[in-house]
Amino acid sequence: MPWQLGLNLLPDTEDLGQIVTPEIQDFIEEAEAWFTSLLGRSPGGHEHRVMLLALRLAHEAGHAQTPYERRQVVWAGLLHDIGKSALDQKILEKPGTLNVQEMLIIQQHPAIGYRLAYSAPQVDAEILGGIMHHHERWDGEGYPMGLMGESIPLLARVLKVVDVYDALVSDRPYRPAWSMEEAADYLRQHAGTAFEPHLIRVFIERVLSGPSQPPYGPA
Ligand SMILES: [Fe+2]
Ligand SMILES: [Fe+2]
Repeated sequence: MPWQLGLNLLPDTEDLGQIVTPEIQDFIEEAEAWFTSLLGRSPGGHEHRVMLLALRLAHEAGHAQTPYERRQVVWAGLLHDIGKSALDQKILEKPGTLNVQEMLIIQQHPAIGYRLAYSAPQVDAEILGGIMHHHERWDGEGYPMGLMGESIPLLARVLKVVDVYDALVSDRPYRPAWSMEEAADYLRQHAGTAFEPHLIRVFIERVLSGPSQPPYGPA
């Protein structure tokens, strides 16, 4: 499975079965089938890693206790950037700094993603909120709406942490990948500004540094 490339960047994922239980696998297949029927391709490595990390973080933070909650995380993780499919790929892959106009175009992807995901019968308001608000910041300086603190939907706050982490530990056209420690330092420095402080603590202390994780729900 090509999406497993890069999974070595995730903590404690030698045994993928610990994360992807049969229940989770069903949710992934359900979301992938809808994604593929819409776009003619499967979600990519970033989407898969964000989804798996979001499951880990949500689990450790006590927000993935039921099958329903775990399903929400899977769908929101796999679909969070679906709006980018409607954007000019040249801008998405541009190696240099983006100008203001290009930045504004990129910032449309959460709202476009919301509209695309709205058409999936399995997607509810909570998943849509995760997609729409995954670039909001804890201090209110994010986009698209500048929501602040706990007014940002929980799923979006979780996605925000793992989305940035995955971007930092991945090679980008304009810089090589950071180490796990460098990325953790960045998250720590921006807790309370970009990120919810409690989620950063849980992510660093229990997801990145924690012991091997128990399975999510019945294996
Ligand atoms: Fe995004
Ligand atoms: Fe993303």
